[in-house]
Amino acid sequence: MKTVLITGAGIGIGRATALAFGKAGYRVIVTDVLQDEGAAVAAEIEADGGTAEFHPLDVTSTEQSNAVVARVEAAHGALDTLVCNAGIAHKVPLDQLTDEKWDHTFDVDLKGMIRVIRAAAPKMRAAGQGSVVCLSSIMGVAYGWDEHVHYSAAKSGVVGLVRGLAVELAASGVRVNGVAPGYIRTAQALSEQHSLGPAGLEKAAEFIPMGRVGEAADIADVICFLASDAARYVTGQVVTVDGGLLVGRY
Ligand SMILES: NC(=O)c1ccc[n+]([C@@H]2O[C@H](COP(=O)([O-])OP(=O)(O)OC[C@H]3O[C@@H](n4cnc5c(N)ncnc54)[C@H](O)[C@@H]3O)[C@@H](O)[C@H]2O)c1
Repeated sequence: MKTVLITGAGIGIGRATALAFGKAGYRVIVTDVLQDEGAAVAAEIEADGGTAEFHPLDVTSTEQSNAVVARVEAAHGALDTLVCNAGIAHKVPLDQLTDEKWDHTFDVDLKGMIRVIRAAAPKMRAAGQGSVVCLSSIMGVAYGWDEHVHYSAAKSGVVGLVRGLAVELAASGVRVNGVAPGYIRTAQALSEQHSLGPAGLEKAAEFIPMGRVGEAADIADVICFLASDAARYVTGQVVTVDGGLLVGRY
């Protein structure tokens, strides 16, 4: 049985990704800072006939990242897939963008990925196969997002991480790719304080060529594809999944 570890899998895109991998027959290692939500996702996968475990993991902790990966490897061997999904998108105007606020977003959204990848890579390399999928954003690959400069910068950083790591790991058979979601109906996008909010999302649907905001499962299915053998010759790519938003807005 293949094993996938997903960060931030208690809600939103991470949760949908956990459910999709569960249906695809993977052992799903659900991780999150949200313990109740994470445990509920693992229970849902099991109730559906799948295999899952919940492990608390705050990706800002190197110690926790190393410990969770080591615990999973001791039980199940090298990870087959790692999905670096955990992320935050706080609205902070430039005049309030302190070092602390900048660093916090980078610590979760970018360094939080490399902590877990760094822990899992040696055994994946030794196994000679596997894949990593990292969540960027349309705000990292194409758009600028005002009052979210730190977020846009971190999500652009994810593109560089994917490219560099893809080349470094290619010879060992480990692939590294990214997904850049458009507007997806999750807690992050529904936040009035930090993002579009419900009304803003409805407005967005009007200018998205496919006529609707994305659902978490729309992203989860692409992540599963990138992790699968169907994408065996794909590495170093960040796939935009946005209902045609970037190519259709002019
Ligand atoms: N929703 C969108 O429209 C959208 C668009 C582009 C990119 N994304 C990206 O997709 C990913 C998932 O977003 P979402 O919309 O599901 O967001 P969400 O807010 O619904 O979920 C984010 C998850 O990350 C977890 N998390 C936050 N800080 C963490 C930490 N320190 N350690 C571990 N887990 C932590 C949260 O607990 C939560 O489970 C994020 O990286 C986000 O930036 C989302």
